[in-house]
Formats: sequence, C-alpha cells, structure tokens
Amino acid sequence: METAATPLLRTTGSTAVERIISSSRRPRSLGAKKPGAVSLAMGEPDSGTPTAIVEAAVNALTSGRTRYAPMAGSPELQHAIAKHTAARYSRPTESGNIVLTHGGSGGLAATMLALVNPGDRILIPEPTYSLYADHAAMIGAEVIWVPNLADGSLDLDTLQQEAAAAEMIVLCNPGNPTGRVYPDSDLHRLGQLLQDNPGLLLLADEAYADITFDGGAFTSALTLVDAREQIICCSTFSKTYAMTGWRLGHVVAPVQLAEKINTIHRTINGPLSTFVQDAAMTALETPDADLQAAADSYQQRRDVVVDLLSGLPGVEMLPPQGAFYAFPKINSALTSDEMTARFAEAGVLVRSGSEFGPSGEGHIRISFATDLESLQEGLARFASAVKEMV
Ligand SMILES: Cc1ncc(COP(=O)(O)O)c(C=O)c1O
Repeated sequence: METAATPLLRTTGSTAVERIISSSRRPRSLGAKKPGAVSLAMGEPDSGTPTAIVEAAVNALTSGRTRYAPMAGSPELQHAIAKHTAARYSRPTESGNIVLTHGGSGGLAATMLALVNPGDRILIPEPTYSLYADHAAMIGAEVIWVPNLADGSLDLDTLQQEAAAAEMIVLCNPGNPTGRVYPDSDLHRLGQLLQDNPGLLLLADEAYADITFDGGAFTSALTLVDAREQIICCSTFSKTYAMTGWRLGHVVAPVQLAEKINTIHRTINGPLSTFVQDAAMTALETPDADLQAAADSYQQRRDVVVDLLSGLPGVEMLPPQGAFYAFPKINSALTSDEMTARFAEAGVLVRSGSEFGPSGEGHIRISFATDLESLQEGLARFASAVKEMV
C-alpha cells in the first residue's frame, strides 16, 4: 500500500539568519542559574527611568498621543537632538543629520544595512560589543578583527594597513566590555586615517558617552570635524537616561547618509512610538548635575570592583574609565565559557569574554550597573570561585 509522502517541514532560515547563528560568539547560556544567584551579567542601569520622563510619557498618552508618528521621526525631537549635539560637540548639526532609531541597536543595524554590502570588509577593534559582528554576518560582510594593544589603545598601525581595502571601522567608545575610553590621540589618528582613505567610513557607537570617570576626557568622534563627512555616530537613550525598555536611539550622520539610514530604518520599523519620542524631549532636559550624579554613582561602584579585583591572585585588569563594565583577565587553564559556567555554579552570573571578540578569550565581563549590595555579594562569590580556577 502506498503511503502519502510526509511533507518536508522547513527548519532552516534565510542565509542571513544562518550566518548570524553560525558566526555568533555568544554562548547559549550563562551557565546553570542557581536559586539566589546574583547577576553581574546585564548591561542595564539599576535605577528606573527618572520620574519626570515617565510622567511625560503618561501625559503624552493621556492627551491622546497614541497615533502614528512621522516616518522620519518627530521633527521636534530631531531638532532638539541636533541642537544638543551642536552645543555639546561644537559641531554644526541640523535636523537632517539626525536619524531617530529603535534603540541604539536599531541605529547600528540600519547604518550597516544602508552603507555596507555583502563581501565588504569591516574593521572591528576588539574586544568589543558583539552586535556589530552579528550585523556584519547578517549582511554577509567580512569582519576583520583588530585586537587592541595591551594598554587598551587602538592598534592604529594595523588599522592603517587594512584601511585601503575596508569600507568601515566600527568603534565602541567608551568600551563595552572593557570600560576603557580611547585616548584623544587615538581619535585624532583615526580622523587622519579617514582623511587619508576617503572611501572609508567610521561608525562610532557612543552609547556610554555620558558615563565616564575621574573627570577623564572623552573625545567623541563627532569632534573630528575634518573627517566629518565619513563619520556616523550612534547613540541611545537606554544607558544615559535608564530608558532601556523604551527603545529609542539616534544616529548623527552627513545628510545624504542619514537619508539612506532612515530609508532602511523606516522600511524595517515604520515610525517610532509617538509618546516615547515626546518623553525623550523631557529626557534631553535632564540637568547636567543629574547626569553627573549617575556617572558618579557608577564610579563609586567601579572603585569597589577595582579594589576587590586588584588584590586577587591570577586576576589582571585595566581599570574601567567609563561605561559600567570591568573586563578582568583570569590566568586559568579554563576557557572563558567554562569559567562563566563555574561562576554561575558559585551563584554569580557574568558574561564570557569570548563573546566580545577573539582577544576576549581568558576574560570575564562584570557589569557593575547593579545595586551596591548585590555587587558586593556578587564580587565576594566571584573572589571565592576564582581561587579554584587559577
Ligand atoms: C555599546 C552598546 N551599543 C549599543 C547598545 C544597544 O543599546 P539599545 O538598548 O539602545 O539598543 C548596547 C547595549 O548594551 C551597548 O552596550
């Protein structure tokens, strides 16, 4: 008797998604989570969104701001961000330079999709935020990892050698996962490199620009005025204003590139939430003193991490200068993934350094965006578990 052929169920995705999955450096889990585990894994401010911003969103909603916003984003918000950027970085900036995006992630993805082609070479100084390589994989672009030097600065000689054959450099500054801020001299040499290679673009992800420590100078790529036609800078409301769940970011780019980025962004996302954009106007009015207080509070926690880790045998670290991450190297025979699993067993969740590029192997990322008490408990567990690894 003939049986009907079983229809083949499709389980594979597009080549784009298969490329992301197969090249992902992210381990599938942070390890078995024990009840009562302390998480030092998340890149998320512990404070909720400031009340004034929440109230602005509620007011927008109750006054009926629930309909589609313009495709290019709220003109008032674009204008306010342009003004803010011009004042902060002494850089002439108009509304046409601003693309409003679905978080920083939406801005990064739209920029890459708008400006990079399959097969293009993208230079990525690392260790760095893992999303850039995922975007490159989605597009089918080739990632050229450029490990940072031992002091955490850029390997500008290698970047220079690779520049002529590349389309883009992606820079995370201040750094996730390293917490390092690139020196002014690195940024200026990078600006010169761009001028020497007019076909090369710099995508600077400055998600943590408002979180720097010890009064140290942070040089934004937006200040490299001589190369400004080649620079795209991506920011987010997520970290500065503790608005991770609101999904709002923005890109600053030369007008013609901004239009291309917006074309991709609106094709994928449509318009952004109306009331979120209204509330963002209030976020931009946050007094500098409040932003400084938030940075100071992260600095206090950074100090706790540095104090504890610098005394631990077998653990080395360049002190974080910004963002809210520490990236210690642990001199162990275990891999980063294995160490992450061991820490989870010991009741502290961290991230494996290998997620952040090849030279992240041997490191662990600790987020200190959690409350002080959890941080101290998590670090105590870290310290006792690490003794068994080195
Ligand atoms: C360096 C960096 N860029 C971008 C993002 C993404 O931000 P958003 O939550 O706004 O998409 C993150 C989030 O952790 C980040 O660390």
